[in-house]
Amino acid sequence: RSELMDKVVSLCKRRGFIFQDSEIYGGQNGFWDYGPLGTELKRNVRESWWHDMVSGHDPIDAPEGAPQAFQMVGVETTIIMNPQVWKCSGHYDLFVDKMVDCKEAKKRYRHDHVNGRWVTSKRKADGDAAEPKRVFVTAVGEEAEIQDRALSYFGLKKKYVDRLEWEGDIQSLTEIPVDDYSSVVGPDASEAGTLTAPRDFNLMFRTIIGALGTDDDAAFLRPETAQGIFVNFKNVVDSSRVKLPLGICQIGKSFRNEITPRNFTFRSREFEQMEIEFFCHPDQSQEWYTYWRNRRFAWYTSLGIQSENLILREHHKEELAHYSVGTADIEYAFPFLPEGDYGELEGVAHRGDFDLRSHMEGKLKATDEGTLEVELNEHGQPKYRGSGKDLTYFDDQIRERFIPHVIEPSAGADRATLAFLCEAYFEDKQPDEKGKMQSRVVMRFHPRLAPIKAAVFPLVKKDGQPEKAKEIYRALKAAGIAATYDEQAAIGRRYRRQDEIGTPWCLTVDGETLENGTVTIRDRDSLEQTRISVDDVVDEISKRLRA
Ligand code: GAP
Repeated sequence: RSELMDKVVSLCKRRGFIFQDSEIYGGQNGFWDYGPLGTELKRNVRESWWHDMVSGHDPIDAPEGAPQAFQMVGVETTIIMNPQVWKCSGHYDLFVDKMVDCKEAKKRYRHDHVNGRWVTSKRKADGDAAEPKRVFVTAVGEEAEIQDRALSYFGLKKKYVDRLEWEGDIQSLTEIPVDDYSSVVGPDASEAGTLTAPRDFNLMFRTIIGALGTDDDAAFLRPETAQGIFVNFKNVVDSSRVKLPLGICQIGKSFRNEITPRNFTFRSREFEQMEIEFFCHPDQSQEWYTYWRNRRFAWYTSLGIQSENLILREHHKEELAHYSVGTADIEYAFPFLPEGDYGELEGVAHRGDFDLRSHMEGKLKATDEGTLEVELNEHGQPKYRGSGKDLTYFDDQIRERFIPHVIEPSAGADRATLAFLCEAYFEDKQPDEKGKMQSRVVMRFHPRLAPIKAAVFPLVKKDGQPEKAKEIYRALKAAGIAATYDEQAAIGRRYRRQDEIGTPWCLTVDGETLENGTVTIRDRDSLEQTRISVDDVVDEISKRLRA
């Protein structure tokens, strides 16, 4: 599986899908650039999402599985918002990872120690046991899953780990005493000798507003696009003749100063999100939660992700944010993960009224009874003041005023793009024009996602074939279909070049074209070649793209 990942990464570079950011200067960890084909692919991911969720949405009739008809609209809000937004949302105080420094290796680790700790004894490649190290991870999920997460957080390979033992407070896990290691590992990480004590590290990137700005003018690059939607809820409702249930959608860049960016674009420091905040009546929120979970899962399969590579994982109670009634992750079997493991593509969260209330009243915190109240400072005042604006909604049909509840399907455009790339990669053997078997790499993108939809070739560079092929190519482009023209090299090589970048159809102009006005159309996956009339090419490709 890791071999497959290496192949995907290498194809991405070779064919111009994804490059390391600022590569000529040695790159930057956690930042990635998209090349010409990657840009088209990611744009198609975004556009498919926008079409399927927003512009193509039918607000008149309820879609299949939905409790009723609803509206979906879009917004585009700023990356740098009023800093009070992050204070009230909780990000300013709570959007932290625990971090430890390894003094020996001069490395910095992401360190989530909330529920327990791992003891690892790292064996060197030659078999000598190295000093055991103690690491901390968030103890959520199944034991095997936690174990793998621990390994991947700390960059350890299973084969070099002698013992990986858990000591924690999650009931489903057996506590294993770590006495064996007591001489090396003390009661907290600082005594382990190599790791500093864990400390909070806020993941938001800071910046300063204004030429004379001081630290008091600190602002933040948004770590999620969601808050731009919440703070505009009232503007949208007041200005747009919309009624609840209502989805407000946004696609845009988000930034997180991840301590350990890794796994290609999977965890980056600059990435793009595609988020829906769906506002509804509290009594209907559970039904909408179920609807969005299923609908968002189906979106990935509709674009070619095999359902056996995708799971919908309901969060355990311990994993839920204190205000959340339910959260499910849509997870994909990324090839950089061990067999049977899945990585998060999208979270679908039931957020209750937490967000709108926070922006009305001020930062909220959970009470012992599990309710939410405004967090107070030492003077008994709200720690962070809300906007004081009325973000309630009046439903004139049922004559009731309420704070809407929110269902949030939150997807990553880069993670989705990476999943589509991994899913598309295939290798097979196909006969070339002389019947000799040749190995072929083929990216089986769903046609809606394929960077180029059709390639047009003249079989030979003479007899008027190039002119005819260019005519077809231009007709496709004029119809808004991403097409390419290629007359270089033998026809078999040209086909393979297109297979490798996932072009679903190749059209070849040959001797017959000039006699009877037909071209061959070759299918990337079945390799079937049929003849169609030159006059029908644009309609045929358009029809196939809609299928
Ligand atoms: N508003 C909710 C929210 O932001 P999240 O689970 O933190 O929730 C949502 O992020 C999605 O954004 C994730 O499922 C993932 O697809 C993407 N994402 C989050 N952090 C990322 C990172 N560091 N690199 C790439 N994508 C990321």
